[in-house]
Amino acid sequence: MKKILIAYFSHEGENLVDDRIVTLEKGNTRIAAEELAKQLESKGAKPMLFRIEEMIPYPQDYEGTLARSRQEKESGANPLINDGPNNFELYDVVFLGFPNWWGTIPAPILSFIRDHDFSGKKVIPFITHGGQDFLYSLDTIKAELPGVEVIKGFACAAPYIASAKYVIISFLEENPELVK
Ligand SMILES: Cc1cc2nc3c(=O)[nH]c(=O)nc-3n(C[C@H](O)[C@H](O)[C@H](O)COP(=O)(O)O)c2cc1C
Repeated sequence: MKKILIAYFSHEGENLVDDRIVTLEKGNTRIAAEELAKQLESKGAKPMLFRIEEMIPYPQDYEGTLARSRQEKESGANPLINDGPNNFELYDVVFLGFPNWWGTIPAPILSFIRDHDFSGKKVIPFITHGGQDFLYSLDTIKAELPGVEVIKGFACAAPYIASAKYVIISFLEENPELVK
């Protein structure tokens, strides 16, 4: 059976859902990542769930997070993040989860990609978003990982995060070889 890592970034606090600012106790991508772990476990896999965290936290408020993330995107920043999971080299499959920020990956995901050697791994990005799906994020990841197999994962829209389970179940049913 393949060794699977689920590495994700998720921002708790204020966010925009259906054009309203709401406070999320648990980030949408974290909800999706935990559901993915549960569904993989139900198929007999033993995934490792790893949360990517920025060393200098993003603000709680939506406007502050927008401002900082925009500046990071424009400057191509690689903010410092926590140490990665132990024995990264042993994983065959890496699910990489993140929210769509400004149409692409949040800067801590860029840092995580650059901090690790993905050669020989299968990378499966999955996203939660406010309506724009993966947009530029897949191309950004592929450009960062030349020669690495990157497979489009699943996308969950923020207002329907409660239905993430069904999106994940159907993705895993369509890709049974990922778990074997
Ligand atoms: C800084 C910021 C930028 C965002 N930019 C986009 C965007 O460009 N396109 C989009 O569809 N959603 C965008 N969103 C919405 C998030 O992708 C969505 O709410 C996501 O589910 C949040 O996941 P999280 O709770 O795990 O952080 C943005 C949210 C934030 C906070």
